[in-house]
Amino acid sequence: MKLPSIISRTGAALALFGINHVFAEPGDQQPRQQNAERPTHNLSPRLPPAPSGRFGDPLTGLTFGQLAAFAIGSEEFSNVETPESGLGPIFNNNSCSACHTTPVIGGASALFVTRFGRMRHGVFDPMADQGGSLLQQFAIDPAVQEVIPREANVVARRITTPLFGLGLIDAIPDDAIRESARRPQPDGIHGRVAIITDVTTQTSRVGRFGWKAQQATLLAFAADAYLNEMGITSRFFPTENAPNGNTELLALFDKTADPEDAINPATDKSDIDAAADFIRYLAPPSPIPLNRSATDGQRIFADIGCALCHTPTQQTGNSDVAALRFQPVNLYSDLLLHDMGRLADGIGQAAAGPHEMKTAPLWGLRARPIFLHDGRAATPDAAILGHDGEAARSRDRYRQLNPVQRQHLLDFLNSI
Ligand code: HEC
Ligand code: HEC
Repeated sequence: MKLPSIISRTGAALALFGINHVFAEPGDQQPRQQNAERPTHNLSPRLPPAPSGRFGDPLTGLTFGQLAAFAIGSEEFSNVETPESGLGPIFNNNSCSACHTTPVIGGASALFVTRFGRMRHGVFDPMADQGGSLLQQFAIDPAVQEVIPREANVVARRITTPLFGLGLIDAIPDDAIRESARRPQPDGIHGRVAIITDVTTQTSRVGRFGWKAQQATLLAFAADAYLNEMGITSRFFPTENAPNGNTELLALFDKTADPEDAINPATDKSDIDAAADFIRYLAPPSPIPLNRSATDGQRIFADIGCALCHTPTQQTGNSDVAALRFQPVNLYSDLLLHDMGRLADGIGQAAAGPHEMKTAPLWGLRARPIFLHDGRAATPDAAILGHDGEAARSRDRYRQLNPVQRQHLLDFLNSI
């Protein structure tokens, strides 16, 4: 649901594209500050920037139409929802950008969501009939406020992940991920492909987004986030979350007809499509050129077995979007599920069991405020020492490094 002011601001942004379409050209290194010298600079606070390698830029090589979709999607991503536009009855925040903030919109943050469930006789119950496994922390009225049920014996936090470069991850073919799971690995490592049903196509796909690889496509994740973080129903998720499962209470407080997300005549897009476009066209983090220490760290990263899971590079397949077609993806993840022992969050979700987590991509790590799924680690060093399960052997090798070698490795992680 968009506000009229947003439509006119988008129009202004599009007009600016017309004037400055050279921005779309690959290799244009024009600094972003030049925006401020244009007479129209006050029309939109988030003008499409030159591809200067900063967090939050669009991909290099997008067409005029794709840049326009990026601008429209960026507005939608920051649009503050209200009960009138469909927010709630229960929700976790009122805009995508409220959680995805750091270092710019589309990034990560220390804000977390809470999941709960019940482990009984070794089987995880997400307590769906009581509103699980995701808790909605807020409500449009105190009468519908959710609580963690007393019977829950697993409660886990999940921090907000960054969205830079996710269009590239979206474009990695399922078969490539499947094949990597078949490669024999040392150290007792056996990554598992997360096979899930994609809600947007109703087909069986390889999950790759989220801490549990619970979604396979950006559109599905965006639709899921609209419903579960903001309480906005859409064509893929037409049913509201009932507060702790109470459908009578829901009926009393849900005043907006479902699905709430409709096509906006001004843009011809629904919110979920607009937000998915923004994320799809967000550029990946640009690595910093490796200095000598970081170059040594890169070798250590491979030597002690980090790269067995944190695969430095994958490749996109064919794509309708030229900028995403047959491109390298320097994500540092195999996108597979691993048994992480005591580090895992104890929640079963989609294809992932309670002990399994998806290998976290490491690109852009230098812009992250906190680390590991629940933010328990304040530094990459603490995050590595927190590894367990299949990663125990490589964690132990990290422990055995001398302080200088450790610093090389951390310098490398800060550059990618
Ligand atoms: C309440 C905070 C919050 C809000 C609001 C929120 N997100 Fe997120 N986002 C998260 C968290 C936490 C995760 C990690 C979730 C997980 O894996 O369980 C996440 C993950 C994601 C991912 C997957 C990232 C990856 O690394 O694979 C996408 C895509 C995403 N969010 C899109 C959105 C969109 C679109 C919106 C707005 C509709 C939105 N988010 C609103 C907190 C939030
Ligand atoms: C068995 C596979 C595996 C191996 C080996 C492994 N990791 Fe990880 N790594 C993961 C998984 C899975 C996560 C996410 C875990 C979580 O948060 O629950 C992760 C998370 C991280 C994080 C935190 C990222 C974030 O988003 O918060 C860092 C940093 C990291 N790994 C670095 C390393 C380094 C350095 C090594 C080598 C010493 C290593 N890892 C070895 C699987 C592995």
